[in-house]
Amino acid sequence: MNIIHIVFVTLSIIVANEAKVLNKNVDTCQEILGDELIEEIWGYENVKDEILKYVIDGDFKRKTYDELAKFVDKFGARPSGTEVLEKSIDYMIDLTREEGLNDIVTEELEVPRWERGEERITMLEPRVKDISVLGLGRSVSTPPEGITAEVVVFKSFDELENTPDEKVAGKIVLYAPIFTKYGETNKYRTQGATKASAKGAVASLVRSITPFSINTPHTGSQTYGEGVIPIPTAAIAIEDADLISRIHARGEKVVLHIRMFSNLETKVSRNTLIDLKGTQNPEKLVIVSGHIDSWDVGQGAMDDGGGLFISWAAPVILKRLNLIPKRTVRAIFWTAEELGLIGAYAYEKAHRHESDNINFIMESDEGTFAPLGLAVGGSKKARCIVGEVLKLFKSINASTLVEEDAPGSDIGIFTGNGIPGASLHNDNAKYFWFHHTEGDTMNVEDPDELDLGAAFWTAVAYIIADLSEDIPR
Ligand SMILES: *[C@@H]1O[C@H](CO)[C@@H](O)[C@H](O)[C@H]1NC(C)=O
Ligand SMILES: [Zn+2]
Repeated sequence: MNIIHIVFVTLSIIVANEAKVLNKNVDTCQEILGDELIEEIWGYENVKDEILKYVIDGDFKRKTYDELAKFVDKFGARPSGTEVLEKSIDYMIDLTREEGLNDIVTEELEVPRWERGEERITMLEPRVKDISVLGLGRSVSTPPEGITAEVVVFKSFDELENTPDEKVAGKIVLYAPIFTKYGETNKYRTQGATKASAKGAVASLVRSITPFSINTPHTGSQTYGEGVIPIPTAAIAIEDADLISRIHARGEKVVLHIRMFSNLETKVSRNTLIDLKGTQNPEKLVIVSGHIDSWDVGQGAMDDGGGLFISWAAPVILKRLNLIPKRTVRAIFWTAEELGLIGAYAYEKAHRHESDNINFIMESDEGTFAPLGLAVGGSKKARCIVGEVLKLFKSINASTLVEEDAPGSDIGIFTGNGIPGASLHNDNAKYFWFHHTEGDTMNVEDPDELDLGAAFWTAVAYIIADLSEDIPR
C-alpha cells in the first residue's frame, strides 16, 4: 500500500461512517413515523401544489404584497396603545369579513402607551456634533434642562461590573458591544439601563443592535429592574457609537448633552382571532400568527407587517380554495408585541385552561424574505412529522428544519411551555439592518418572496391541521 492508497482507504472509512450516521437519523424518523403516516403526508402533494400554484401563479399572485402595501401606506407605524393601532385592527377585521370569514373574535387587554417626545443628543466635547438617537421603549425623560455629563464606554457587562462605582457614578454609560447575534447582543439594550443605574450612571446609551447602518439608530424595548432608579436610555447609530468609542479609547474626554422626553400611560388594545373552523375537530387549533403593532418609526412593513399578512392570508386562501381541514386554522394578530409580548401573555393566560387544544402554533416575526423552512420546537416525533411535511416543499427550496427549543417571539411563551410550534425560517440576513428603524418600510418587502411565504405558510398550516394524527407533545 502506498501512502495515497492509505489516505484513500482512510477517507473511504470516514465517508462510510458518516453515511451510516446519516442513515441512522433517517431511519429513526422513519421508524418513529411509520410507513402509513409518511404515505399519508406525501398524499398532500397535490393539495400543496394547488395552493402554491394559486398563490405564486394564480389569482392570489401579488395579493399579499398589495394588501400589505395598502395597509402600511394607510396606517404607517402602529405603536401599542394608539388609536391608529386600533383603527388598523378594525381595518383587518373588515378586510377579513370581505373574504366571507366571519368567525372573528377580539380580546381586550391593557397595554402600555409609551409616547416618544423630543429627543436630542449633542456631543459637546471634544467637538460639537449631533448624535443620531432613538429613545428605547419605556425610557423616562431627562429633566427639562437635559443632562450634561461625561461618557464612559463599555464593551460588555463584565467590563462595567469590574469598574469601580465611582468611575461610573454621575456619568453617561455607552455600551458598545460588537454585534454577534441579535439574541446575544440585545441584552445591552434590554438590561443596559438597569445595570448602569445600579452603578450610579445618570443615563445609558447603547450602540444600535445591528450588523449594518447608514447612520440609522434602532429602537427597541427595555425594562427597568426592580429597585433601580430609572434613568433615560436610548440607542445611538453605530457610526456615532464607534466615533465616541474611538475618542474615549484615546483617553480624551467625551461630554454629551441629552434631552429626551416621553410619556407612559395605560390603554386598551385587542388581540384578533380569525377562525377557519375545522370539519372534524373544530376545538383543536393550528395557529398562524404575527403581530399587528409596530415601533413608532418606519411603517412596520417588515416588523411585523409581512408576518401579519402571510398569517392573514392562510385562512383566506384556504377559504377561497374551499380547503377546510379537520382542525381549525386560527390566525392571531397579536397586539403590543414590541413592548414585551403583552398580547401573547394575555392570550396565554386567558386560554390556559384549553391549552391542550393547541395542536401546533406558528409565528412569522423575523422577516418574510424567501422561505427556507421552519424553526421547530417540540418532541422528537413532532419534529419528525414537521420534517416530513417540509420535504414536500423542495420545489420552492423551503424544506429546511432548524431545531430550536423555544422558537418565536410571541409564541416563545407557548413553545417554551412544550407546545409544539414553529417560526418561519427565511433568508433574512438583512432583517436586522432595518428592524426597529425608520428604514422598516415597504421598500424592504418583495412581492415574489411574499407570495412564496404566504403559499408555504398556508400549505403547511393546512397539512398539519388536516393530518389524521395530532402533533404530539
Ligand atoms: C430553488 O433553488 C434553485 C437552485 O438554487 C433555483 O434554481 C430555484 O430558482 C430556486 N427556487 C425558488 C422558488 O426560489
Ligand atoms: Zn416583531
